[in-house]
Amino acid sequence: MSRRPLVAGNWKMNGLRASLSELDGIGAGYSEALKAKVDFLICPPATLIAEAAARAAGSGVAIGGEDCHAKASGAHTGDISAEMLKDAGASYVIVGHSERRTDHGESDAMVRAKAEAGLRAGLSVIVCVGERKEQRDAGNAISVVQAQLAGSIPDGATANRLVVAYEPVWAIGTGLTPTAADVAEMHEAIRQTLAGRFGAEGKNMRLLYGGSVNPENARSLIIQDNVDGALIGGASLKSKDFLGITASYI
Ligand code: 13P
Repeated sequence: MSRRPLVAGNWKMNGLRASLSELDGIGAGYSEALKAKVDFLICPPATLIAEAAARAAGSGVAIGGEDCHAKASGAHTGDISAEMLKDAGASYVIVGHSERRTDHGESDAMVRAKAEAGLRAGLSVIVCVGERKEQRDAGNAISVVQAQLAGSIPDGATANRLVVAYEPVWAIGTGLTPTAADVAEMHEAIRQTLAGRFGAEGKNMRLLYGGSVNPENARSLIIQDNVDGALIGGASLKSKDFLGITASYI
């Protein structure tokens, strides 16, 4: 089975309602040629999900959340459940982003519980993994990522609902990127790990690269074996940049 690429934007804590004009631009640029080849997803802040979903309806652009709570409901002030995201019009949720792991102390076990929640709610789940600079420098990048995969992905995950995003922490928002060869090596290792645990499903799960992807470097980083798309931060905030990246597919 060939894997259909997914290009996903993570707006993080950026965006007011006026910013949805950029989503409109992304939808307008999602041409028939692109629709034939690649899935588009934008994950805005939770405050914008319902309006984003309404505005993206008909464009083919999917809308996702950036995080969710593990429980469906309850006394958890300020938190948002996967069921709420789904109800607001999301079809995806990102879990385990390095900013959540760092800012909120999320462990692999917590990320796994959130991934299970996303699946329970009927969402597709993007599980993020990635090593820190000192871990790469020590030669431990692959083993660190393998441990995150083992701890963060639920048993029974399937290719149609589970996506892995490899985002080296040191490449996020820094303008630094691994070499294309480093991305290839890591994605090959991730593929083998997933195939070993999930068999054919693991072979068919989409593996995204994320970290300082822009229109100039996208082609060399993401058009290669075992890279099935991108998770884009800063460059997803402007439709021109997002579409510049997706142009790599045509
Ligand atoms: P940047 O593209 O801004 O480096 O962010 C990557 C990221 O963290 C996406 O989730």
